[in-house]
Amino acid sequence: MTESTHDPAPADCSAESQVAKVFEWRRGFNAMYLIDIGVQLGLFAVFADRPGASAAEVAEQLGLHAPYVETWCTTAYSFGLLEGEEDRTFRLAPFIDQVLAIPSHPRYLGGYVRLGTEFATEDHRYCLEAFRTGDTVPFQGRSDTFAEAVAQGTAGLQVLSARKLLPELEGLKDRLDAGGSLLEVGCGTGRHLLQLTKAFPQARCIGVDIDPTGMKAAEAAIAAAGVADRVDLVAGEVGDVAAGTEVDAVVMIEVLHEIAPGIRQSVIDDCYRVLRIGGWLLIIDETYPSTLAESRRPEFLFPVQTGFEELTWGNVLPTREEQDFLLRNAGFDGRIGRAVIGEGFTVLSVRK
Ligand SMILES: C[S@@+](CC[C@H](N)C(=O)[O-])C[C@H]1O[C@@H](n2cnc3c(N)ncnc32)[C@H](O)[C@@H]1O
Repeated sequence: MTESTHDPAPADCSAESQVAKVFEWRRGFNAMYLIDIGVQLGLFAVFADRPGASAAEVAEQLGLHAPYVETWCTTAYSFGLLEGEEDRTFRLAPFIDQVLAIPSHPRYLGGYVRLGTEFATEDHRYCLEAFRTGDTVPFQGRSDTFAEAVAQGTAGLQVLSARKLLPELEGLKDRLDAGGSLLEVGCGTGRHLLQLTKAFPQARCIGVDIDPTGMKAAEAAIAAAGVADRVDLVAGEVGDVAAGTEVDAVVMIEVLHEIAPGIRQSVIDDCYRVLRIGGWLLIIDETYPSTLAESRRPEFLFPVQTGFEELTWGNVLPTREEQDFLLRNAGFDGRIGRAVIGEGFTVLSVRK
């Protein structure tokens, strides 16, 4: 008999523990809606401004129904999102301001929660039918709020990319400070482009995306920030960037798994083509487990969850082997840098 490579069920697995697991997930479901209500109605923001306020005071300030806010506070206390006293005064639990009250903070997760409460809920409605037909509703052209929630969901990665990952790539900062250029593939609403203009004030930036909704938002954000003279936007694929364009870095954040599998290789080929010799490709994305056993490992839990949540968007997450194949096949023959960060994001870096 061959030995199983799979993690066995825990020794203490019982009918009760399986019931408890589902109850815990069901509680998580309510926690997501509780958080979303708190974000949308400004409850977290008010408690960030007024620690020690009572539920009744907060309800009055926001013009909300006081008994509902009371129950929201008790539940948020029970979930560990608020700290509180028996006199019904509350404050945010440690670090919850960063995670749920300050949208510009790199740890902010309000947008990610919204992707679950609003958009995953919408997707779920046609899931049964989609499982019969295989139909998909793609990412592109959904709505402004969808594009914005996605951008909020990846805000931390954008800051990390612009302030740490790109500047650490050998020789890149010198090139960009000397007037080099960067291309962002799948720039969405343009938030990362704005981070790039701040991190590399001498560089030119190009943003490419096939989503007209995101591109409209990106155009407005870039004009509002007064950096339109340093940022070019191209509606379409990398292949639509003007012939002869050469850049020192190509970056994509949460994009590779969104690119239709049938054209992935040609997109990576185009990235290779536009890079100058010595230029870098930085990919921040998610890696699907290569084996069933891997799908229970901590670093794959988030990608597996994404693969399910985005199934009916038509997204197929690449495995490590597929990522390596795409890069090698495009011509990248040097070392492929690979690291797992945060909840299970993969950072790939490779030099031409
Ligand atoms: C999850 S969103 C991430 C957007 C942005 N990078 C961010 O972090 O907010 C993926 C983006 O990739 C874009 N995309 C998908 N396929 C593309 C392709 N072939 N060329 C350019 N952009 C593409 C989508 O339209 C979408 O805006």
